[in-house]
Amino acid sequence: MDKYLGLLTGGGDCPGLNAVIRAVVRRAVAEEIRVLGVHSGWQGLIDGDIEPLTRTSVAGIQYKGGTILGTSRCNPLNEESLRKIRANWREYGLDGLIVVGGNGTLSCSMRMARDHGYPIIGVPKTIDNDVVGTDTSFGFDTAVSIATEAIDRLHTTAEAHHRVMVVEVMGRHSGWIATYSGIAGGADLILIPEKPFRISQVCDLLLKRKEMGRPFSIVVVAEDARAHPDEEFLTEEQRERIYREEHLGGIGQQVGRQIQERTGLSTRVTVLGYIQRGGSPSAYDRVLATRLGVHAVEMSRRGEYGRMASLAGTKIDSVPLEEVADKHRPVDEEIFHTAEVFFG
Ligand code: F6P
Repeated sequence: MDKYLGLLTGGGDCPGLNAVIRAVVRRAVAEEIRVLGVHSGWQGLIDGDIEPLTRTSVAGIQYKGGTILGTSRCNPLNEESLRKIRANWREYGLDGLIVVGGNGTLSCSMRMARDHGYPIIGVPKTIDNDVVGTDTSFGFDTAVSIATEAIDRLHTTAEAHHRVMVVEVMGRHSGWIATYSGIAGGADLILIPEKPFRISQVCDLLLKRKEMGRPFSIVVVAEDARAHPDEEFLTEEQRERIYREEHLGGIGQQVGRQIQERTGLSTRVTVLGYIQRGGSPSAYDRVLATRLGVHAVEMSRRGEYGRMASLAGTKIDSVPLEEVADKHRPVDEEIFHTAEVFFG
């Protein structure tokens, strides 16, 4: 009898999603498992917006950004949505579901599996690299490359104009993108959520660089970087606007403005934004996404539901979704310590 496996991509898009979709379909076809692509994340399962995926429909998509299935930040954990999902699950005869997502989508998958009994396999994706239980996520390598190239370009103009360049990067509550792109791009300072900063110390460091004959600087700021609570930095209104859970952003402008005001150094701010997650995935991300996609189908064959495919060292493995849900992975201390060697 045919086996039907649903596949959806949820949360913010990220380079490598199409490589997973292609890998799932190719591995499934070889086992005569049919893959049903669910459009727009959980929303497609609620609406019954589902189509069969074939070898032809996923041919040659591994180099494309975005996701051919579309995505959304829809949360299905309410009575009405759960009722519709139950009906569609039955109608399409699903035997299991592969959910490719970041922290929000994976936490939701854990609840769908644990509390509502759905046979789900998670696949981690995120440019933020903050999913617990996997050593890295696809999308991160591409985002870091994009941010690094931007920092390289800002370096030359900063040097020419003797300016401070503040670069705001994504990452939600973790400073992975900031730390890696900062190391790769030779940042003079990196501000991340895990290490509250003091603006007075930031300014002292930049002035000291000027005294040393380095009148230009690169400051990488993660979107959720925060000042030490004992230092007056943002008004209550600014804090509410910048640190909105549904959309972080704006800390770079404030850091840049204060640097200019306090030091008199000419300062410019660049917000990289969605450029970091658009476009073609790196070779590394394509390979990781492909390995995870193939593994997810093999997990489903073995009935290993309620788990997330993961990277452990150089091997693909899996961990229980319960160990992943409702957490985020902070930057590794040792890696940030390496970045700090180059501050100033
Ligand atoms: O999680 C990926 C990410 O790009 C974060 O780095 C960023 O904070 C967030 O998504 C932006 O989300 P949205 O697409 O909802 O604006």
